[in-house]
Amino acid sequence: MNNGATNTNGNGYTLAVHVRGVTKTFGKGEAAVQALKGVDFDVRQGEMLMIVGPSGCGKTTLLSVIAGTLEFENGEIDVFNHSLHSLKPREVTAFRKRTVGFIFQQFNLIPTLTLVENVSVPLLINGVGWREAEERSAAILAKLGLAGRERNTPAQLSGGQQQRVAIARALVHEPRMVICDEPTSALDKDTGQQIMEQLRDIARHPERCVIVVTHDNRVFKFADRMTEMEDGRVQRVHENPERISEPLNH
Ligand SMILES: Nc1ncnc2c1ncn2[C@@H]1O[C@H](COP(=O)(O)OP(=O)(O)O)[C@@H](O)[C@H]1O
Ligand SMILES: [Mg+2]
Repeated sequence: MNNGATNTNGNGYTLAVHVRGVTKTFGKGEAAVQALKGVDFDVRQGEMLMIVGPSGCGKTTLLSVIAGTLEFENGEIDVFNHSLHSLKPREVTAFRKRTVGFIFQQFNLIPTLTLVENVSVPLLINGVGWREAEERSAAILAKLGLAGRERNTPAQLSGGQQQRVAIARALVHEPRMVICDEPTSALDKDTGQQIMEQLRDIARHPERCVIVVTHDNRVFKFADRMTEMEDGRVQRVHENPERISEPLNH
């Protein structure tokens, strides 16, 4: 297991995520698809990192292995002091419940549950009692501009509001790593911009990181760095000199 305090990339940054030589193949024989071909990948603590690359290059697969939702074959993955390559399945599940928050393109809210119930799910999974879960969920919904809507169901909201509920659900248990797979693809431009600002603010915490897969180049101004993937590998990493680090006033 790595010691996070000393796990740096040589530039003085403390790493949140450290991936080396990871491979993942789907299927067998002639139907086999090697989705990750020895990928090396780092995320710094306190950063918002964007991942871009053509469809099918392995972005979702990379997110899934670092989140502990998909097993991988070779290589090493360390996430906030958890060495996923050496954990037992039960330990990976515990890691995922505590450490990871997910935001998906299609929101993935449960249509029959109210907003406060949807947001409470990660807390209930982590053993928090219903009353406390409800209070914490209502508080984070209010923070994201949804006060008074707690008893609505997802279908009563706009797309942008639904994605804010999904963000609340991803953050309510205060995960250290927030993973977003094309979070703005189903949203109009202005709403997408607001969502990115919220994600960027979440990343401004020294013990967290936010990883965003997106096709949307306009997202780059919110990111600290951009990682380009191609054909199952990281090809290039760019620092963002034009990063906007303060909230925008509009
Ligand atoms: N569950 C799966 N079964 C078989 N092949 C898969 C599966 N998931 C992904 N793949 C394949 O792995 C490759 C990478 O997929 P993915 O990580 O979803 O790419 P991206 O998110 O960059 O579009 C693609 O060729 C895809 O078809
Ligand atoms: Mg994908």
